[in-house]
Amino acid sequence: MYFRSIMRCYSTMGRKFIVGGNWKMNGSKKSICEILGFLKKGPICPDVEVFIGVPFVYLEEVAKNKPDNVIVAAENCYKVPSGAFTGEVSPAMLLDIGVNWVILGHSERRHIFGESDCLIGEKCKHAIENGMTVVACVGETLDEREGGKTNEVIFRQLKAIADHIGKECWSKIVLAYEPVWAIGSGKTATPDQAQEVHQSIRCWVKENVGKDIGEAIRIQYGGSVTGKSCGELSKKPDIDGFLVGGASLKPEFITIVNAKSS
Ligand code: PGA
Repeated sequence: MYFRSIMRCYSTMGRKFIVGGNWKMNGSKKSICEILGFLKKGPICPDVEVFIGVPFVYLEEVAKNKPDNVIVAAENCYKVPSGAFTGEVSPAMLLDIGVNWVILGHSERRHIFGESDCLIGEKCKHAIENGMTVVACVGETLDEREGGKTNEVIFRQLKAIADHIGKECWSKIVLAYEPVWAIGSGKTATPDQAQEVHQSIRCWVKENVGKDIGEAIRIQYGGSVTGKSCGELSKKPDIDGFLVGGASLKPEFITIVNAKSS
């Protein structure tokens, strides 16, 4: 594949395009071998940052066998280093095995496992203060969107993060806007719907955290992104990449990674 212009992987504000795979609770030794195969084959545009969210049990194996241009991320972690928290994993443990990226606040954590805005803020704080980069997810449900509450919900989720972390932490955050109604449903937000919310998120960060921080922060879109839908979405000025669930398990992920450069 020929990358027409490397510069197109950057927005006018110099934000590097970033695409993440979120494997969720999927994968086996066999299927992971196949995924690593297509990631190695690529080719991946050199100016796109790529990460994959991997279930805890496979993290070390994937970290050992992944190509150098792909970062390995955990899909969750807890808010303290160690202790009586059966079933939990801490940033200290992830760092111990060489993993320093984590996805936090995914809507499945919020809605299936009952994680509150406050807990997600605390997790972001602990992870970042201990040297991790966090992909922090926000997004509204269908009822909330239909009730005209999209901004209210997203600003509340952002505030819970901002309330817990200092300004200096924001360079270690990538935001992911994932409308809950679009996740795993085959209903991708239209490029205009996504852009509208991305712009609101950027404005909120500029006004409530800092102008420079709002300009620099990267905001991924997630929710049924496919090889077909990624091209138009990637043209929107405030969409800086994607967080991809189902399609990240398939070779189609490479098309999404290269959305901005093909
Ligand atoms: P999906 O998932 O691409 O399968 O909709 C996205 C996500 O949950 O991050």
